[in-house]
Amino acid sequence: DGIIPFYGKHQAGIITPMQDFICMGAFDLTTASLDDVRKLFQSWTAAAARLTAGKTADEESGSPHLPPADTGESAGLNPMRLTITFGLGASFFDERFGLSGKRPAALVDLPRFNSDEIRKEWSGGDVVVQVCANDPQVAFHALRNLARIARGKAVLHWVQEGFQRTGAADPSGSTPRNLMGFKDGTNNPKVSDPAVADEVVWVQPSDEPAWMTGGSYMVMRRIRMRIEVWDRSALDDQENTFGRHRDSGAPLGKTNEFDDLELDRKDANGNPVIPVNSHVALAHMEGKVKILRRGYSYSSGLDARTGQLDAGLLFICFNRDPRKQFIPMQQKLASVDLLNEYITHVGSGLYACLPGASEGGYIGDTLF
Ligand code: HEM
Repeated sequence: DGIIPFYGKHQAGIITPMQDFICMGAFDLTTASLDDVRKLFQSWTAAAARLTAGKTADEESGSPHLPPADTGESAGLNPMRLTITFGLGASFFDERFGLSGKRPAALVDLPRFNSDEIRKEWSGGDVVVQVCANDPQVAFHALRNLARIARGKAVLHWVQEGFQRTGAADPSGSTPRNLMGFKDGTNNPKVSDPAVADEVVWVQPSDEPAWMTGGSYMVMRRIRMRIEVWDRSALDDQENTFGRHRDSGAPLGKTNEFDDLELDRKDANGNPVIPVNSHVALAHMEGKVKILRRGYSYSSGLDARTGQLDAGLLFICFNRDPRKQFIPMQQKLASVDLLNEYITHVGSGLYACLPGASEGGYIGDTLF
């Protein structure tokens, strides 16, 4: 019936198969008291557990003289596979709450990558909340009520919504296409296999710090696409940019989407069939470095300066240690990827997504 359990060893919304919509926000804490932060996470946990089960954010008092406990726009709606995932940014560990000694070494300040044009208003935040659901109103409702609960303790720093094709538009559930028209997600690691999820996504007991065991690091990059330039480029340029065919999603020179990438194959003239600087050739990292991508398309209306669409990819990925996974990968991509002609990274964040909570506990209880 569309309910994804909230409580568990890991937070939902990480290896959970993707929903159709995302409504994501980052908060800055306005309180200076760790006790307030703890209370906030306790309230958020209780609300998130209720919302993901299809209930209101809190029990209604029934009094006509009080504002309702829930904003009401999801009344009567199914939970639609709602998940709510919490993460902590590096700024959470500054001097305010006395937790600076607990900052994970893996929660680095991301380096500046080649051609980054990162803007503060789309980046960072003390706490990130990723809300995903198969209905945009259900997703918005959850983030809105969490913001409401945070009143007096935290304010929103940025909000970004995203989408992909819905399950109704593609009942077969084939790989969704991004706004460049290419199938996106084909070669994601198969995290339904617990051994793969442990290797790529989940912080292990042997990793530091212990309070992150069972958690994961989330990278968010708001990547603007230069859609107009892309739309004017020839199909073979587009396909060489990614290293895959547009229609089938197959590696260049092959016919099926899930055929193996064979990066060392040469054509009759001895040139690689898949260009060495194509996106997949580089991102493949010789098969040695993997991340779990879970991004959505975004469209944020018009860029008034240029009269063009402000649209692209709300890139989200999860990894066990960004110093060994996302960062080296993005360093490689940022320098030579053919795709760079058509994209600009304009927002950025790295967040420590806490382990899951058990009933009676709360998200964050391993740390504060
Ligand atoms: C593969 C699109 C940014 C990492 C792909 C594929 C497409 C794609 C179409 C091929 C299909 C697939 O396997 O999913 C895009 C677009 C981006 C973008 C449009 C920006 C707007 C990034 C970034 C990273 C990344 C920033 C990580 C730093 C990967 C990886 C693969 C991949 C790891 C799979 C490579 C393999 O086959 O082993 N991407 N991508 N992508 N991308 Fe991206």
